[in-house]
Amino acid sequence: MSQEQLIIFDTTMRDGEQSPGASMSKEEKVRIARQLEKLRVDVIEAGFPAASPGDFEAVRAVAEAVKDSTVCGLARTGEADIRRAGEAIKPAKSGRIHTFIATSPIHMQMKLRMDPEQVLEHAVRAVKLAREYTDDVEFSAEDAVRSEMDFLCRVFEAVIKAGAKTINVPDTVGYSIPSNWGERIGTLIQRVPNADKVIWSTHCHNDLGLAVANSLAAVQNGVRQVECTVNGLGERAGNAAMEEVVMAIRTRSDIFNLTTRIDTTQIVPTSKLVSQITGYPIQPNKAIVGANAFAHESGIHQDGVLKHRETYEIMRAEDVGWATNRITLGKLSGRSAFKARLKELGIEVDSEQALNAAFSRFKELADKKRDIYDEDIQLLMSDDAVTPEVEHYKLVSSMFHSETGEAPVARLTLLAGGSEQKAESTGSGPVDATFRAIESVAASGTELLLYSVNAITTGTDAQGEVTVRLAKTGRIVNGQGADTDIVVASAKAYLNALNKLHSGEEKLNPQL
Ligand code: KIV
Ligand code: ZN
Repeated sequence: MSQEQLIIFDTTMRDGEQSPGASMSKEEKVRIARQLEKLRVDVIEAGFPAASPGDFEAVRAVAEAVKDSTVCGLARTGEADIRRAGEAIKPAKSGRIHTFIATSPIHMQMKLRMDPEQVLEHAVRAVKLAREYTDDVEFSAEDAVRSEMDFLCRVFEAVIKAGAKTINVPDTVGYSIPSNWGERIGTLIQRVPNADKVIWSTHCHNDLGLAVANSLAAVQNGVRQVECTVNGLGERAGNAAMEEVVMAIRTRSDIFNLTTRIDTTQIVPTSKLVSQITGYPIQPNKAIVGANAFAHESGIHQDGVLKHRETYEIMRAEDVGWATNRITLGKLSGRSAFKARLKELGIEVDSEQALNAAFSRFKELADKKRDIYDEDIQLLMSDDAVTPEVEHYKLVSSMFHSETGEAPVARLTLLAGGSEQKAESTGSGPVDATFRAIESVAASGTELLLYSVNAITTGTDAQGEVTVRLAKTGRIVNGQGADTDIVVASAKAYLNALNKLHSGEEKLNPQL
């Protein structure tokens, strides 16, 4: 008997973007959207078009780029919001408008200052207007978890009648526990007239660490769409993590008896891309996508796995896209081996010129590092994609000196607007000295919000990937840099962020 399908609705680029500092530029959203399409998510919520002209453009660009997933724009119930979302998704092959209004007493009284009848009227009007743009309209009752059951049923009944095709029940504040969330969903599906004519959905926040558990309880009680984010990004403690929901459904198909369209081998590459773009590192013990998720430390466990893998493994690392740290290329590898490996990794290079540039970066890296892993190649290529077209600042050369009892010194040669400049500074450490030296030339007046380093592969010759988040007068940018020398990687990341600020590529930050 064929299994029923669970719809995976990804809101990394909308709710995920509401994580502080995680907002994304249009180009970054398109890159993530292409990867989500490769992952085969069913619906991509690309943003909130009425929030800013930038987010409108980003949703539109995603709608133009994506062919194989539905592209969705969020809208409050006001006419202007719906029209903006409708315009933004117009180029999509398959487009959805997701409209929402709060239905809990506390939100209606304190935030909306509306009575329940007004809320109901707004909800119905919004759905009808949205249907003028697309047949695919989703309605969410914000703070459904604290809404009165009778009122919630009335609202859902009315929006179904008005033409909503998906009814989303959010735990906006992460207040539920699995048993009561499952029960609430079951009651709604039972009580709302015409419940069988729509897809029921859930959207759970992680304030009590229960977002995935609550989503799965909802699935067991009839929802057939789960809203989730890559790495569990999202407002406050985040949303249900897509990778955990998908792998729970797949690994425990004996319980759920459902399938998803997801190509699970794309989970880790997607997670890495999102982490890199947002600057949110992944904790090593994070389920599925953490660096230690498949590492066995204890001798007893290692012995068991060596004898029979399933003694301690319920999933296979390669099924979720962990390359087995395969050494793929080295110093002597030629251009065609490099090109073939890119193809095997599913990395597209759109011109010979881009391939040549990537190959010369590969050779540079192979001079510094004996073994080149798949992760190195992926980074090499993503580095390429994030480099802004115009590099106002560029690192020409660097020298760092640190000695016990002495203040570390950084001496840099930078290209700034085409002219070479020397920069020197001391600092509390070599990275601090480097940033101060860069600032002695750039005088950017930015605030450093985040600095993080990640080792890409194992071994002391691994490349360090540095993320630097800078803010200036409300604009936020993330810069990335990678190198086997983490001080050089730090300099590259800082300059990358300055270049983004300089070229006007800013984070959209469309908070609700
Ligand atoms: O958490 C929430 O209620 C939301 C809605 C807009 C679905 O993000
Ligand atoms: Zn949310």
